[in-house]
Amino acid sequence: SLYTGNGTFGKKITYKSSVKSTQEIAHSLAREGAPEGSIVLADEQTGGRGRLGRAWQSPAGTGVWMSLILKPNIPLQKAPQLTLLIAVAASKAIEKVAGLEAEIKWPNDILIKGKKTAGILTELQAEADSIHSVIVGIGMNVNQQTEHFSDEIAQIATSLAIEGRQTYKRAEVIGVLLQEIETLYRQYLENGFGVIKLLWEARAFSLGKRITARSVTGSITGYAKGITEEGVLLLEDDRGQVHSIYSADIEIPSP
Ligand code: BTN
Repeated sequence: SLYTGNGTFGKKITYKSSVKSTQEIAHSLAREGAPEGSIVLADEQTGGRGRLGRAWQSPAGTGVWMSLILKPNIPLQKAPQLTLLIAVAASKAIEKVAGLEAEIKWPNDILIKGKKTAGILTELQAEADSIHSVIVGIGMNVNQQTEHFSDEIAQIATSLAIEGRQTYKRAEVIGVLLQEIETLYRQYLENGFGVIKLLWEARAFSLGKRITARSVTGSITGYAKGITEEGVLLLEDDRGQVHSIYSADIEIPSP
């Protein structure tokens, strides 16, 4: 087993060398009743999905491409909290494995020195107001070298290997990641979002900065004030009006 903690996450592993997307497989497993903590891993994804309909490059053997099934007993509108929880766990895992400082860009981009190293895609299976399963997809660039990225991607993305100047065992990264997720998740179910919110804020890259939130409906520039109890981003525009941002891309405007 990859994960040797006391818990149950990663006890049931579905491993494939090449798949379209681990999310799709996890969705079907969850529909078939897979238990909480089941994971799907692939060496390569040919149709990896990112947030907002984007593609996620997942070349063979270079990164962690994983989907995790959670079955929390929480109301639907609290689901975004889980995304922030996973982001905290992923940044802690990077710090543990590679000793690198990892920051979180709202909602869930993990950055090292300002470049994206990991991303999280949270998808729900829900009926009416109740959550059946949460499928958490985690993509982490581990052993890519700069030449694996196109010039354009190399401007904005990095990997543990590039930043840490060594390669890492993917199995070890997965083990530490699952341990961090399980610990925070248990804490969350027992005590609520409070501690996770503090941990998230302590690692936040965009809070307290002037940012632009861009979405399909337009863009707003202002000051990132904080996140709410639900994990919604609060952005104060230049007129002093505070906007709740549920889904967007965050940019730091150039002066
Ligand atoms: C993002 O930053 O846009 C989220 C990227 C999520 C990528 C992971 S890789 C494993 C899982 N399978 C997918 O198709 N996507 C997620």
